[in-house]
Amino acid sequence: MTSIKVNAEKEYLVHLDSNWRDAVESLAGSHNKTLLMVPTELVDLFQMQALAKANLRIVEIPKGESAKSPEFLLKMWEVCGEFGLKRSDCIIGIGGGSATDLAGFVAASWLRGISWHAIPTSLAGMVDAAIGGKTGINSSHGKNLIGAFHSPTSVVIDQEFLNSLSERDFNAGMAEVIKCGFISDQKILELALDAKSNIKELISRSIAVKAQVVSADFKEGRLREILNYGHTLGHAIEKIEEYKLRHGEAVAIGLVFAAELSNIAGGLNAAAVVLHRELLEKFDLPTSYRPEALPKLLELMAGDKKSRGTIVRFIGLEEIAKPIWLESVTSDQIAQAYGRISG
Ligand code: GLY
Repeated sequence: MTSIKVNAEKEYLVHLDSNWRDAVESLAGSHNKTLLMVPTELVDLFQMQALAKANLRIVEIPKGESAKSPEFLLKMWEVCGEFGLKRSDCIIGIGGGSATDLAGFVAASWLRGISWHAIPTSLAGMVDAAIGGKTGINSSHGKNLIGAFHSPTSVVIDQEFLNSLSERDFNAGMAEVIKCGFISDQKILELALDAKSNIKELISRSIAVKAQVVSADFKEGRLREILNYGHTLGHAIEKIEEYKLRHGEAVAIGLVFAAELSNIAGGLNAAAVVLHRELLEKFDLPTSYRPEALPKLLELMAGDKKSRGTIVRFIGLEEIAKPIWLESVTSDQIAQAYGRISG
């Protein structure tokens, strides 16, 4: 079994080629108590109840973003208290990005921080959400506004979960994989041409990109912002669409916009912009958005966590695998780039 090391506020391993069931049993065997948080539909699909025992409690959580609410967090703290979870115990989060974000934040906040392990089941979770220690829930004011940096103690990747994903979810995850290719590892872009055959290498290369970035800048001083390539517009679109689009679908539109803006304001060549469209469309991902949405998108982008005052900052590319910070783009340049994705 191979693994990738992340060296953030602590060191931990992302175990590739793992068997999730063995991992859960081994963690439960080495802790006094283990709380396993998992979306209901996965409990049934993977017959997880069979794993429950006196020291391993399974808590079913709602699917998707609805798990990441203050109300559900309160419920989870009740479960932790009632189960008697101590500092030496652990939480395991199994599921997509929402499940691991929530499990991580419960672990970060309970007893001022206990150990947790992430077992991502979606492609986006494997290559992005479960790695890097960003944990949190949503506020009525926006997504992920309440949270903490709290690294997992390990991440367990079992590709068996990918077989249960819909084509749409797999494709949405590919947006994050492709993003890793554009910001850091051009080989990913080649491998993505035959993603199903190359999935193992695509996952490990994308994790390596993320591991390297979060090891250098855990708390997002600056470098970590490159992981948000395509996300400034993507997050705004997600909000307008009331989170009915998959995160990766909104990011796909944001990636093409960021590439166009990079062409206008950062010197990225036109062929690289074409490559963005070609690769994302290969996975049936959207690459354009409604022209009339620009004013609302601008308003939402100005409120983005990464904006400074009212200045909207974008991550762009100077060339493939060479990210740049576009910190003083004009509204004309934004409108021009947006025109190219909404024509
Ligand atoms: N998903 C972006 C990050 O972890 O920083």
